[in-house]
Amino acid sequence: MPATNGNSLVNGETLDFRSATKVLQSEYAERDGISVKDLINSKVNGGLTYNDFLMLPGYIGFAASEVALESPITKRITLKTPFVSSPMDTVTEHNMAIHMALLGGLGVIHHNCSPDEQAEMVRKVKRYENGFIQDPVVISPKTTVREAKALKEKWGFGGFPVTENGTLRSKLIGIVTPRDVQFHENLDDPVTAVMSTDLVTAPQGVDLKEANRILKASKKGKLPIVDENFNLIALLSRSDLMKNLHYPLASKLPDSKQLIAAAAIGTRPADKDRLQKLVDAGLDIVILDSSQGNSIYQIEMIKYIKEKYPELDVIGGNVVTREQAAALIEAGVDGLRIGMGSGSACITQEVMAVGRPQATSVYNVAQFAKRFGVPCIADGGIQNVGHIVKGLALGASTIMMGGLLAGTTESPGEYYVSHDGQLVKAYRGMGSIDAMEDKKAGAGSKDAKASNAGTARYFSEGDRILVAQGVSGSVRDRGSITKFLPYLQAGVQHSLQDIGVRSLTELREGVVNGTVRFELRTASAQAEGNVHGLHSFEKKLYS
Ligand code: IMP
Repeated sequence: MPATNGNSLVNGETLDFRSATKVLQSEYAERDGISVKDLINSKVNGGLTYNDFLMLPGYIGFAASEVALESPITKRITLKTPFVSSPMDTVTEHNMAIHMALLGGLGVIHHNCSPDEQAEMVRKVKRYENGFIQDPVVISPKTTVREAKALKEKWGFGGFPVTENGTLRSKLIGIVTPRDVQFHENLDDPVTAVMSTDLVTAPQGVDLKEANRILKASKKGKLPIVDENFNLIALLSRSDLMKNLHYPLASKLPDSKQLIAAAAIGTRPADKDRLQKLVDAGLDIVILDSSQGNSIYQIEMIKYIKEKYPELDVIGGNVVTREQAAALIEAGVDGLRIGMGSGSACITQEVMAVGRPQATSVYNVAQFAKRFGVPCIADGGIQNVGHIVKGLALGASTIMMGGLLAGTTESPGEYYVSHDGQLVKAYRGMGSIDAMEDKKAGAGSKDAKASNAGTARYFSEGDRILVAQGVSGSVRDRGSITKFLPYLQAGVQHSLQDIGVRSLTELREGVVNGTVRFELRTASAQAEGNVHGLHSFEKKLYS
């Protein structure tokens, strides 16, 4: 065999092709590319953003669909997909939260609304999908058709069991379905005039599989579960049956059939009352929403919550340095949210001269927090699947998105046609003047600013002049999250397959032990990596 001195081209020798791996191992001390440490320490560009680097391909020995995306969001709770929607009033209300959870992620309900409105949204998430609905909305024989219709509006579903006392654990006497009340003219009639009384029920103690079978066979919308005295114990819903079939990744706690609910609050004294309402509604995770999380207010709030609600998981933030993270970890957070100034609607770095490029922030905070078992959310600046993978590779466990999800059907607000003829939805930073002055929170009162999530997030309550840290604008229609999130999921799986890792755990391990390699991108490398030289093109991302 010819010498393998690495000078074969110079010497004009050709090495035996069968020795390629051996040559590689014996002559190159390091793998091709650079390690994550060299990447972060490169300082070529100062702090790094997601666009400043790439990961190098590895070896593919498995299908993309096999790549596991499970990842923790807090010390105790793991999601099946690492996607989180931001607590912004143009991104996450109950509809987004429900669908994010159904698809294996999490939606964090914003707090630019009254505590009651926010608690109501949490309740809707908790009630949405159940095996057995343990606390169904029950009505009494005296309830009028008008009231039943109003309840349908309020809850977004019809089909209410009627019991003697109008409560659970009271004798079941009928069910009112939307069809029963739809065309009934006398709205003041009691529901007993229209309710169905030919009931198919299942006995208390029935297992979910058998109850589902009875429900399917009954061709009814609801299956009441009753005890031996015909008292209503629980309810099974046909629409839940379908949802269970279609959302195998749904985010639920191990011993619960309900979706996981998360919501944001501020750190003022009034937020303690707000939190109590959210906890009463079934909240599982609270995010302390602040653009600069390392404050006495947040530290005290974390301690208060951990003491008063030991079952509730607390995510602190936002942070971008190890020092900020250390303070919140010490106070007891179960998770951290990383990002300052990287959001798409954000002008914090420009106005405050404070913040940090996101890739550098994620690496520094996540690698530190990992040592204490605290998972991190990379929040903001995500424009595509590649950015998600980079956030995860740098150590984030989950990825929070605002602008990327704001154009989906499930975000709050209506679509409208922009001046250039595009279908768009409103998207605004919570530190934009628009959001900070929103009258939703204060309902037109003089205290509107004082009870507003935007002002709280940016420590601007009571300020005579509001200094904007965000802008207000619009984003393009992205269709339903039920298509968009699976696209992000498949995209991340393909990316990890290219890198040669079978799971997010393997990805993070590979980055730390140096087997997953990186490369910096010059400005011209970035241009090369984008579409170039075409006369025109259409960028369709998935089908
Ligand atoms: P995006 O995904 O790039 O649109 O960023 C969303 C993130 O931007 C949010 O989760 C917040 O952390 C952050 N953010 C929201 N509103 C503002 C603002 O007004 N100024 C600065 N950052 C904001």
